[in-house]
Amino acid sequence: MKFSPHWPALSLSLLLVGGAAFAADGSTKNVPASAAHGQIQLRPGHAAIASANFHATNAGLEVLAKGGNAFDAAIAVASTLSVVEPESSGMGGGFMAVLHRAKDGHDFFIDAREAAPAAVDSKDYLNADGTPNRDASLKGPLSSGIPGEPAGLVLLSKRYGRLPLSASLAPAIRIARDGFQPDARLREAIADERKNLQRWPASAAKYLTDGKPPADGATWRDPDQAHTWELIATHGDDGFYRGETADKLIAAVHAAGGRWTLADLAAYKAKERTPIIVNYHGFRIITAPPPSSGGVAIAEILNILSGFDLTKLDEPHRVHFIIEAMRRAFRDHNDYLGDPDFVKMPLDMLLSPFYADGLRQSILPDKATPSSMLPAAEAAEPGMHTTHFSIIDADGNMVAITSTVNYVLGSTFVASGTGVLLNDEMDDFALVPNEPNVYGLLGSVANAPKGGKRMLSSMSPSIVIGADRTAVIGSPGGSTIITQVLEGILAFVDGESAQQIAAHKRFHHQYMPDEVDVEEGTFDPATSDALTKMGYNLKPRESWGFMNVVTWNRKTNKLDAASDPRRPSGLGKVQ
Ligand code: DON
Repeated sequence: MKFSPHWPALSLSLLLVGGAAFAADGSTKNVPASAAHGQIQLRPGHAAIASANFHATNAGLEVLAKGGNAFDAAIAVASTLSVVEPESSGMGGGFMAVLHRAKDGHDFFIDAREAAPAAVDSKDYLNADGTPNRDASLKGPLSSGIPGEPAGLVLLSKRYGRLPLSASLAPAIRIARDGFQPDARLREAIADERKNLQRWPASAAKYLTDGKPPADGATWRDPDQAHTWELIATHGDDGFYRGETADKLIAAVHAAGGRWTLADLAAYKAKERTPIIVNYHGFRIITAPPPSSGGVAIAEILNILSGFDLTKLDEPHRVHFIIEAMRRAFRDHNDYLGDPDFVKMPLDMLLSPFYADGLRQSILPDKATPSSMLPAAEAAEPGMHTTHFSIIDADGNMVAITSTVNYVLGSTFVASGTGVLLNDEMDDFALVPNEPNVYGLLGSVANAPKGGKRMLSSMSPSIVIGADRTAVIGSPGGSTIITQVLEGILAFVDGESAQQIAAHKRFHHQYMPDEVDVEEGTFDPATSDALTKMGYNLKPRESWGFMNVVTWNRKTNKLDAASDPRRPSGLGKVQ
């Protein structure tokens, strides 16, 4: 989807919380007096949420006001996004979460990534001539992995929440029942995918009226989804992975040619994993481990860059070294990474500063290194489907969650009677070795599909903790997630505010195709010229992420939350 100049300001969820803005309790009374003296704060005393939709941010604040913590609020935000922003994420998809518990400093990761069904068959994704069948990997139930979002939210509630799951899910259930007005972005997504939605009766019934998307201002309800969330609120995992919902999901998937079984659903588990932690110029970055490639790539890039003082370099050289670090990290991404439960990965090597030293040595001082080892791949502009939200609560608990159904409106397949729009995450596997996926990403046997295996992701939710400043950060954007989050981290390290980070101009290199995608206005003409002379192929790209950032200055005790100004207040212009 392209940026449209017509998006109403309403769908921007830009929430400034802290100081004189909207504290969760509507005041600044909890800001400790000591903040004025510049002491380092251990708890903010107020809270901040930034998400891609104002209903979702409000749902999170509502749950905080009821006494919930950041983890309860995250459940409210994610489940509400499933209702109001189904083009990006939902109960039929999965998420990755980087979390920090304040009371004991516990950093942890929840892997609620989708998994391949046991009967996955690579041949399903090939045309007769052996070329990739993109329709099978992107549309309909063959494209769908077993969803992880319900299990991930249940786990988060059980192990870390303060409120019952039913309280955290209440806003989403209420909005799905009472209805809401779909924003322009959702209406546009439905219009773009109209033909695909019409292929599946339950999808057409859910999203189209007389073959058309909902009109501007129309109230839209999703009683089936409300019912499924209610079953989860009452029965936990069993509300989705067993019993009524599971039976309906399997019946619908089978009728449309998919390969899921009841056993696949019953076997699904969200997993808690150890996050990747990397130190960079005095900041501790907590980020996503495999089956995301994001954290490994970010750590590798930061390890390479830690050998430079980027602030002392002129702009072309600063960018040159960042691009070369991106190129090397993405090459490793293609070769080594996959689901850690299935693949042995040389993570010690990839994350080692000595390995980074070697890679740094291989960077030529004034010249691009051509990515000539793999055939070039043409990436589609992904549009911003997938969603990220960031939360810091009054106690200093932190949540960075990136959640997805993959491409716009996922598989476009709704399982009749459940309200569940299934993901099309199977395309994130390397379905055909060395053939790029929809984001132009190449993969090897490490990311080949297999029953029960989780497909590699680029999702990179991250928490950055410095001596006196903290940021919670993430973005959608397919393969560009990694580089956008990296650039956000670098901007935060440089002292930028949440608003500046979200607005920061972006560029991206992913090894193959060997080009630098550049947002308009990122480089001044002299820098573009110098980079071109170094051998870089600069290519304009329109579509950039939907970054949602929360920062906490622990000296002034100021929280800030910013949502990407590219939408909708950007009015189709890159700022
Ligand atoms: O997990 C991943 O890396 C992808 N499924 C994310 C897709 C995405 O960000 C699409 N939108 N821009």
